[in-house]
Amino acid sequence: MSFSRRRFLLGAGGLLAAPLFPELLRAAPAMPMADGPRMAPQLAEPNQPLVNPATLPRFVDTLPLPPVARPIGQREHPAHPGRRLPLYRMEMRAFQARLHRDLPPTTLWGYQGSSPGPTLEAKRGEPFLIEWANALPTHHLLPIDHGIHGAEKDRPDVRTVAHVHGARVGPNDDGWPEDAFAPGHSLLYHYPNAQDAATLWYHDHAMGITRLNIYAGLYGAYLLRDPEEQALALPDGEHELPLILCDRLIARDGQLYYPVSDDPAAPWVSEAYGNATLCNGKLYPFIEVEPRRYRLRLINAANARHYELSLSSRHPFVQIGSDQGLLPAPLERMRVELYPAERADVVVDFSGLDGQTVELRQPSEPLLQFRVRNRGDKNAVSVAMPTALRAVPRIDPASATRERILTVGEMDDANGNAMMMTLGGHHWSDPITEDPLQDSVEIWSLVNLTGDAHPIHLHLVRFQILERRPYDLFAWNERKELKYTGPGQPPPPHEAGWKDTVRADPDMVTRIIVRFEGEPGKYVWHCHLLEHEDNEMMRPFKLLPKG
Ligand code: C2O
Ligand code: CU
Repeated sequence: MSFSRRRFLLGAGGLLAAPLFPELLRAAPAMPMADGPRMAPQLAEPNQPLVNPATLPRFVDTLPLPPVARPIGQREHPAHPGRRLPLYRMEMRAFQARLHRDLPPTTLWGYQGSSPGPTLEAKRGEPFLIEWANALPTHHLLPIDHGIHGAEKDRPDVRTVAHVHGARVGPNDDGWPEDAFAPGHSLLYHYPNAQDAATLWYHDHAMGITRLNIYAGLYGAYLLRDPEEQALALPDGEHELPLILCDRLIARDGQLYYPVSDDPAAPWVSEAYGNATLCNGKLYPFIEVEPRRYRLRLINAANARHYELSLSSRHPFVQIGSDQGLLPAPLERMRVELYPAERADVVVDFSGLDGQTVELRQPSEPLLQFRVRNRGDKNAVSVAMPTALRAVPRIDPASATRERILTVGEMDDANGNAMMMTLGGHHWSDPITEDPLQDSVEIWSLVNLTGDAHPIHLHLVRFQILERRPYDLFAWNERKELKYTGPGQPPPPHEAGWKDTVRADPDMVTRIIVRFEGEPGKYVWHCHLLEHEDNEMMRPFKLLPKG
């Protein structure tokens, strides 16, 4: 039995098996297989050549800015009678778009004919309704693995259910993965918008095929604002840009290619990486900006890729917010790291750069070009940056009534290839084990047993990172003993604000503290590497009503 791990990286236009990583040798917890042995995924050759993005000219398309969603009317929600609320309609359908000037049109799935979908603008204290309607074709654009829980052959291939990532909503409005519905159906969800300003985003969450639905294009920005944030006079209007990043593989005919294993009966792969980065749905776009400050809402919507963004001008980003809203004070950062589903709210100052260009880079690859042009606009003068943003009171660990030790694990086959991921050693359909009491404070200690970092996301709540602490994997595997081997490392300042997704590093116990505010009911928590989430690295949790 070997525990080596094989990774696959996609090179320019082809497949390369990466060397083994002997430093990542890990013993996965021994667990019985649910339905007998399943072959480990080896990446199959695409049946047609892929686009080599290095051959595409840079910065020939303008950066798309998704339209802002507008309500189509007002309506009462059956669960919230007596109040007519603004109603939005988000219709999911297939459409064609050019990802780059020199590529043939690509079939995408989006909301209202757009991917990213329209940006939802929300204000704290102003609830609204969204009707999420599935008008997609009945055949999936991408290869389904019917061996994965929730994607069995007897279910419709195309199923969707929308979730607003980071929103505190009721259990019936959250996009429960098993509530996914087929084309021709819709669901009406209620969004209370009763939480602090934050960069939220929406995306599909259908059981067993989330990775495919999001890869096909079902994601968009949801910006929640509040008066305190507005009083800070941050750049707004055309000086505030949502910037949603994800990576894709594209076949020469322009169509999306989603990597598959060499077993057609079990096409799931453990992580899908692309070689081309979409910025708001375009490859290598440019945007003209004025020589002033801009606010960028950076959202990582990739299936598995993490970003380490920098600016070519050697200018810093000024980070003002993270997943769940404003940081206490602006932070100058040369690099902004984002794991899947994480967000960074940053300000970039282009003043003094008139006539120059600045690139957004992922380490050295240019993703997006800013062309600084003074359009003679008197408003182009930058307002000063506030020095304080919003207090983030630390949750006192002594207020926690419970600590849960939860493993982040992986089941490998005999060759050490990942086949399935688990949380707490459980499968999705096992009985609920996480059942916090409403308004109580808990510490969740995420014990990463694998060699990878996993971005762990809890629905409903915001939380704070307490620390990441090295531990003895051997002691855990031998006798389930949690033995720390060094002091805890407190989160760096950019991770010390309110979070909803946390990177659980290998060799570490990542400890978060959560106050479970919200409406009682069932929600989910999961890894946001979408291939993991779809293959068992997702668990329900139940918020129990207090007293
Ligand atoms: Cu981004 Cu369960 O979600
Ligand atoms: Cu994971």
